[in-house]
Amino acid sequence: MNEGHLQFLASPEWAQMLETDLLPWALGVADLGDDVLEVGPGPGLTTDLLRQRTSRLTAVEVDVDLAKALASRLKDTNVEVVHADASDSGLASNRFSAATCFTMLHHVPSVEIQDRLFAEVQRVLRPAGSFIGSDSVDSEWLREFHADDVFVPVDPDTLGARLEAVGFTGVEIDALDIAVRFKATKP
Ligand SMILES: C[S@@+](CC[C@H](N)C(=O)[O-])C[C@H]1O[C@@H](n2cnc3c(N)ncnc32)[C@H](O)[C@@H]1O
Repeated sequence: MNEGHLQFLASPEWAQMLETDLLPWALGVADLGDDVLEVGPGPGLTTDLLRQRTSRLTAVEVDVDLAKALASRLKDTNVEVVHADASDSGLASNRFSAATCFTMLHHVPSVEIQDRLFAEVQRVLRPAGSFIGSDSVDSEWLREFHADDVFVPVDPDTLGARLEAVGFTGVEIDALDIAVRFKATKP
């Protein structure tokens, strides 16, 4: 991520938006259960909120510096930070009660790797486990914001079929003006 993006994701404004907008939606659509996987925590403001709502949280972060910083900040808590690519996490199959992925899919560099990530999340979820997520949709402004950075936004019109193609059922897509939110379930 570029520096401006990183600063925004660690800002009080972002924390406020997560707490008042994203979190109520997430808790309204899914039961997180006792063992949650978070994909792409970044600086961890989402992690801070999620970890208060479950017994155990595993945060998988591909960026080594961000993973180290988060592991250090959340040492001796109910969070385990794993430095790994979530499309090939090495985590146990059928383990997690729920999985989340907030504002990270557009940082995954291709549709094929995003699909591998969906399949990997499906593999590590328990049967009946929920996968919930949100992401920014394409816009001129966001392209500029991601200058010199990966930006592969998901298309809300094809996201549902992509989640079904890796085995999810009960897929719900909520296309908003600037974002898309989704919920899917492992059969
Ligand atoms: C824009 S940040 C979002 C942070 C946080 N979820 C939030 O909403 O505040 C996206 C994060 O996803 C991470 N990421 C990108 N691709 C990943 C992958 N394949 N596996 C795990 N993490 C990944 C990035 O390194 C970055 O820290």
